[in-house]
Amino acid sequence: MIDKRVGARIVTGNVIESVISGVGSYLPENVVTNDDLAKKIDTSDEWIRSRSGIGQRHYAADDQATSDLAVGAAWNALDQAGLKPKDIDLVIVATVTPDKTFPSTAVYVQQKLNIPPGIAFDLSAACAGFLYAMNIAHDFIRTGQVKHALVIGAEKLSCFLDWEDRATCVLFGDGAGAVVLSAEETPTADAPSGILATYLCADGRLADHLYADGGPSSTGTVGKVRMNGKEVFRNAVTEISNAVFEVTERAKVSRHEIDWFVPHQANIRIIQSCAKKLSLDPSKVIVTIDKHANTSSASIPLALDAGIRDGRIKRGELLVFAALGGGLAWGSTLVRY
Ligand code: UT7
Repeated sequence: MIDKRVGARIVTGNVIESVISGVGSYLPENVVTNDDLAKKIDTSDEWIRSRSGIGQRHYAADDQATSDLAVGAAWNALDQAGLKPKDIDLVIVATVTPDKTFPSTAVYVQQKLNIPPGIAFDLSAACAGFLYAMNIAHDFIRTGQVKHALVIGAEKLSCFLDWEDRATCVLFGDGAGAVVLSAEETPTADAPSGILATYLCADGRLADHLYADGGPSSTGTVGKVRMNGKEVFRNAVTEISNAVFEVTERAKVSRHEIDWFVPHQANIRIIQSCAKKLSLDPSKVIVTIDKHANTSSASIPLALDAGIRDGRIKRGELLVFAALGGGLAWGSTLVRY
């Protein structure tokens, strides 16, 4: 039994699991193809596709803030969960492109969805942010403090790209994805569902490989994305694969039992290399990078939603999410959907 008062904890003999009760996503209308970019900067569809797997990306309109994208995804997730905004008692928005320096984008989501007072905050862990946010929501749920959590990854990355840096600006897009995590009580943990295991890590020694060169307390500006692509690539293949090994070991499941690998969508070559290292059949990998490009914290829930809505991912299946990005920060989550 969960007490609706935030922070109140009721101890029962049962196990509280956090299950994904709804998934949703939102992509802005404006689709920008590689050929569109080639009219503006010195690049080509051939280079972008062969180096990254990206074919197009979506850019938000000038008057669309990250919270607007987040709200679009949240409505769809709530709808799938059969819940209303009034049912939500925790909102976490993983983002590196907040509406404002403060308050959090999460409180604007609360405001725009008319969610009653509860816990709301943003989380900054770049491309791994959604996994960090899921784990925190999971902890709120399993400690009995929260019944329904809205966990959102949302980014308007187009607002801080450097159009002079062609190796970086072509890679990113805007969008949002959301899940509703809900408490489910079971008398036994014999057949666990929902979030089964998480592995998270960050290494600040690698911070200069991927960052924005601005911030409120340093330059007083937002800055532009800077990336040492080769170093990030190398770390991504190693750490994403290791993170998946780690969660499967923690949950004591075999990698052969994984139904779907839903990785962060940064580069098709990273995804394929990880799948190979993990001995996962390519047909078990959800790939959306061709359509969405790299949407940082939004990419995993966007890919998850795509896989569910086109009928590939089904209830009861075993999913593994994994990501690496700015920080460098990375992680993996194993979920029985
Ligand atoms: O979400 C966070 C995680 N991010 C990632 O995981 C990204 C990881 N890194 C990557 O995906 C890849 O390193 C990139 C896609 C960014 C770059 O691929 P690369 O194979 O490492 O290419 P490169 O940077 O070594 O560039 C190769 C060549 C260079 O020309 P030269 O020096 O060989 O003559 C670049 O100037 O490609 C050139 N180049 C381009 N050409 C056309 C770089 N950007 C472009 C471009 N269009 N947009």
